[in-house]
Parts: sequence; structure tokens; C-alpha cells
Amino acid sequence: MGTCVSVGIIGLGHVGAHVANSLMLQGIADELLLCDIASGDEDNSRKLAAEVQDLSDSLAFCSHNVRIESCGEDYAALASCDVVVNAAGKVRLAAQDRDGELFYTTDTARRFIPVLARAGFSGVWVTVANPCDVVATQIWKLGGFDPRRVIGTGTQLDSARFRHVLSRETGIDQHSVGAYMLGEHGATQFACWSQVNFGGKPLAELEREEPARFSLDRPALEDAARRGGYVAMAGKMCTEYAVANAAARLVRAVVSNEHAVLACSTLMDGVYGEEGLFCSVPCVVGGSGVEALMVPDLTGPEQAAFHASCAHIRENLGRVGL
Ligand code: LAC
Repeated sequence: MGTCVSVGIIGLGHVGAHVANSLMLQGIADELLLCDIASGDEDNSRKLAAEVQDLSDSLAFCSHNVRIESCGEDYAALASCDVVVNAAGKVRLAAQDRDGELFYTTDTARRFIPVLARAGFSGVWVTVANPCDVVATQIWKLGGFDPRRVIGTGTQLDSARFRHVLSRETGIDQHSVGAYMLGEHGATQFACWSQVNFGGKPLAELEREEPARFSLDRPALEDAARRGGYVAMAGKMCTEYAVANAAARLVRAVVSNEHAVLACSTLMDGVYGEEGLFCSVPCVVGGSGVEALMVPDLTGPEQAAFHASCAHIRENLGRVGL
């Protein structure tokens, strides 16, 4: 990574704008190049200019200067970025189910993937747009990019929700909870209960030793984690802060070459026999993108849930000809 960390963001809706703000406030980026999907009317350019203005005004309260530039729909301008974040979605289509955005986000992505491929973008993709695993697969397939340099936010946010739920239930700080939601960033995601630990001590041991505190209603807690996004959606027709910070966390792991273990959507290359699609497992994330997969030993039921998740992703890929 050069000294100047340059991040491109495509899509300045709720999520994209908050990704920009998170990257600024957390001191992750030195340069932000912003592109938005012109829907053919003048509003988009006015919208983009407004985001640049508002973000620039916010610099007065940030710890360091960030160069912020609007690039309109000139996606090739992002070709030299260290990371490009894809947040080009239409969340109101996903009110009931993230699949609702399938045709919009994949159609939109077809406008910029080939442009960045032709322009020689060699940085790392962090893609948020839903259905996240489908769009990540599309960026890899359509753009011909190194698959390990394409990262979907995937179940990183769902895993954070799961840890939050477990923390609330047991009183253990969520940063001391080890827990993953795996599979699709969608309805078929599942809790990897066999790997849940508190400070490294497996849940199974704690259930035996401290049943009062650790005998959990697993189905209810797993559902609470899975539906966390919809609680926010029901109240304000979008989610924005948490997923923006999940994306910013991945950007930081890349540009700081952290080698951090994070659940994210990556290419399955034989994981439990699955291949040719993106799905979430724990990964080592650093300067070259996904550096290694840390696939847990799943139980039989967990493996079945993993395959069901991959089947749903594959079904959606088929619906959009990928
Ligand atoms: C959520 C959206 C980003 O889970 O899918 O908040």
C-alpha cells in the first residue's frame, strides 16, 4: 500500500455515504473518490456534490485531512485506488428480503465492473450491495479479477449481531465473545454454535459448568441475530451505520495489512465440496485481500446448513445468468 490510502466508493446512498464518513472518522483513508449511479437525471450529480460538500465540512472535526473528490460516473478514475467499495444498491427493494435487490444491483454492477477491469484496477474490492454473495461472485466472474482481491462484507455484520445477542444474554462483553454466522448474507445464514466461545472457553464447557448463565435458547438467539437487519429495516427502511462500519473494518484490514480474521464472503474453492461461488467463512484479511480461509470443522447439521446456503446463492446466480 502506498503512503496515501486511496479508497473509491461506488454508490453514495445511505450505506455508501456512511462508509465514506466511517473511513474519514476512523482515519482509514487519505483520499476518497466518489462515484454515483446517474439515473439519467440531474439530481444525481447534485446529490454527489452535496455528499462531497457535507463530508468536506466534516473534515474540520476529523483527526487528519482527507482529499474528497466527486468522479460522477467516471469509474475508471477509481482504477488506481487501493480499495473500491461497491455500495450501489436500492435498499427499498429489499424491504422483505435481500433478494429483492438482485436484478437492480447486478444490472448496476454491469455498468462499472467491465470499466474497472479494462482500466486495470488491481486493488481490492469490498462489496456490500445485496445480495452480497451474488454481487461478489459477479465482480469476480464478470471482471476476471483475482478472486482473493474481491471481498464481500458477507456475514461479518451478522456475526457481530450474533456476538451482540450472546453478550446481551450472558452479560459477557461482546468483544470477548467468539461467534460466527456463516454461509449467505441472507435468510439461509446459520450460527456456527459448535465454535462459540467466551474468552476462548467453549460454550459446551460453560453450559456444563455454569448452566444458569450459559444454557441458551439457541434457536431464538440465532433467529435474533439473523433478523437483526430487519428490525432496523422495519423502523427506518434501511440499515446503514453497522454495515458501513463492517465495510470500513474490511478496508482497514486491507490497507493496514492486518492479517485479521474476519467472517467475509470469499470464493469457495472446494470448501466442503462447494466451489465457483462466494459465501462467508472466517478469513485472514490483509494487504492482498483474503490471504487464507479459516474454515471451522462444522458439525453435520452445520454442514447441511452451509450447503443449503450455497444452494440459495447458486439459485440467485442462475436467476441473473451468472
Ligand atoms: C444488513 C444489510 C446490509 O444486514 O443486508 O444490515
